[in-house]
Amino acid sequence: MMMAFFNFCCLMSWQAFAAPATPDAAAGKTKAQTCFACHGENGMGIEPPIPNLAAQPPLAIFYQLVQFREGMRKGGAMESFAKPLTDNDIRDIAAYFSTLPPPPAREGDVAKISIGKQIAQQQYCNSCHAPQFQGQKQVSRLAGQSKDYFITQLRNIRSGTRVDMDGTMGSAARGVSDAQIDALAEYAASLP
Ligand code: HEC
Ligand code: HEC
Repeated sequence: MMMAFFNFCCLMSWQAFAAPATPDAAAGKTKAQTCFACHGENGMGIEPPIPNLAAQPPLAIFYQLVQFREGMRKGGAMESFAKPLTDNDIRDIAAYFSTLPPPPAREGDVAKISIGKQIAQQQYCNSCHAPQFQGQKQVSRLAGQSKDYFITQLRNIRSGTRVDMDGTMGSAARGVSDAQIDALAEYAASLP
């Protein structure tokens, strides 16, 4: 009986003081004001080289921001925007962008889209990025992503200019040609 009470107290205090606060999307919106100039309040990049963040999995946003903050990933001056953020800020910001409605599907070259879909299946891209490229856990959403951004990133990951967390994306990227990357980007952008 005493033991059970002790355990209960420990559990309660651990939850109150040691666990990270539950991510707060409303606080995230306040903390993301400086981001809106480029990523939009609706999570849509204002220019083709700027990624859409809307509906990306929170963990994917989290890990990319940590990579920028630690200087492991560089680009778009994101290192300096990520620098002042604490882990809790990042969790709140990720909660905000991840709960926004996804980017709308875009029309594109029908032949390219179908080739892109075939390559995605042959190369098992969906096994990590999920069946409709909606992303999951730490794996980025690709559906509705800017083509321009998609192409640059995949080329950078293939060449190693952009690091990837555990090398899995790097080895997936080595198998695709420029023409295939183009078709994959067209396919991803066409998905809702
Ligand atoms: C001046 C424009 C600009 C501002 C302001 C900005 N970003 Fe970015 N962001 C970019 C660009 C450009 C990239 C792509 C970088 C690259 O080429 O690798 C990017 C990439 C990202 C990514 C990676 C997305 C992915 O799919 O991997 C995240 C997450 C992100 N930004 C979040 C933020 C947050 C949060 C803020 C505010 C604290 C912010 N950005 C402010 C331009 C900006
Ligand atoms: C084994 C899992 C895995 C497979 C297979 C995989 N990816 Fe990825 N991919 C990831 C992860 C994880 C990331 C995040 C990069 C990182 O590690 O920082 C990523 C990132 C990306 C990005 C950058 C997205 C962004 O928002 O910046 C693109 C584009 C991409 N993958 C396309 C593909 C394509 C196309 C394929 C198939 C040829 C593929 N991936 C296969 C795990 C995978």
